[in-house]
Amino acid sequence: MRVAVLGATGAVGRTMRALLEERDFPLDEFVPLASARSEGMRLEFRGDPVTVRAAGEQWFEGIDLALVSAGGAVARRLLPGAARAGTICIDNSPAFRMDPGVPLVIPEINPEALDGHHNLIANGNCTAITALMPLGPLHRAFGLTFLVTSSYQSVSGAGWKGVTELAEQIEKLRGQEESLAHPDVDALPAGEVMGRTIAYNVVPRVERFDPEGSGFTTEELKLGNEIRKILGTPDLPVTATAVRVPVAVGHGVSVYARFSRAVTPAEARDVLDAAPGVTVMDDPSSDVFPTPIDAAGRDDVLVGRIRQTMDDDHALAFFAAGDNLRKGAALNAVQIAELVVNR
Ligand SMILES: NC(=O)c1ccc[n+]([C@@H]2O[C@H](COP(=O)([O-])OP(=O)(O)OC[C@H]3O[C@@H](n4cnc5c(N)ncnc54)[C@H](OP(=O)(O)O)[C@@H]3O)[C@@H](O)[C@H]2O)c1
Repeated sequence: MRVAVLGATGAVGRTMRALLEERDFPLDEFVPLASARSEGMRLEFRGDPVTVRAAGEQWFEGIDLALVSAGGAVARRLLPGAARAGTICIDNSPAFRMDPGVPLVIPEINPEALDGHHNLIANGNCTAITALMPLGPLHRAFGLTFLVTSSYQSVSGAGWKGVTELAEQIEKLRGQEESLAHPDVDALPAGEVMGRTIAYNVVPRVERFDPEGSGFTTEELKLGNEIRKILGTPDLPVTATAVRVPVAVGHGVSVYARFSRAVTPAEARDVLDAAPGVTVMDDPSSDVFPTPIDAAGRDDVLVGRIRQTMDDDHALAFFAAGDNLRKGAALNAVQIAELVVNR
């Protein structure tokens, strides 16, 4: 079995390589692919050196399975032909997620969506996965009818260049912390990735505003669409707000969820305790709750702050934190690959 990672030099691709090693994925050859910029770069896989190749139009020849994290434009150009030629492609980009012929899969939530796939499988958005790991089992138990989310998204969600941009801005502002009480906003560092100062700030715009003028961003619209597709609830109302925060790795999501039947926090905790891939960290009396930094480097999505809303016994509020590069991207893709191979 020859397995490629297309986008092997990126934030998600590097994590995919690490996970294939960690999880002892059954493969005979590992093929790292990226853009022409990285051709010849030396990486290591299972202790052996491997050389990055540029992904040309025929990149898929001899490749059985590809884990892809090279952005939407590359996916649209390079994946349909590869899938037709028989290479199973698991794509992390938004390019095919809402295509009705392409399964959008979280293995713990909707593995049945893989039935009859046509070699092209989509991995969900990192925030959608973080929210759905607890919401999926809660929906099965209590019937989700209404959802509001606010996400606190780390800068690595925009690729490793996002982390570099945050680190550079913090460095530039070193020693000037007091001036941030009365900043000259135009003089503050603002990079190309975030478009605004992200150090010591939060930016309530992830991706771009909806060109159709809804006032939502494309990230916020994706979240609702993907949640509806994965849960199979086409009419579920979802209102999302997505905010970039100066965190390196790990997304947080604050959730308000209303259900078709009454549910207590204790019942929700029981359901979440039994849910694969979820760890409940919820003990206010001991100051236990999840944060993105607790989730970074871990496979499970962490859930805490589970509480009843004041006036409604059908609604709960909670906070989830997950590693956007692992469960939000690379781990979910590797888990899909494991399911496909085991079938
Ligand atoms: N970061 C996250 O948390 C996250 C979560 C879920 C999904 N995703 C999705 O995963 C994808 C990659 O994200 P990332 O964060 O890993 O981005 P990244 O760090 O910017 O990495 C992008 C990767 O794509 C490669 N690439 C770019 N243009 C290419 C081309 N023309 N041909 C072949 N390879 C090309 C890059 O290679 P070079 O190094 O040679 O440029 C690099 O390996 C995106 O679609 C993103 O939406 C990301």
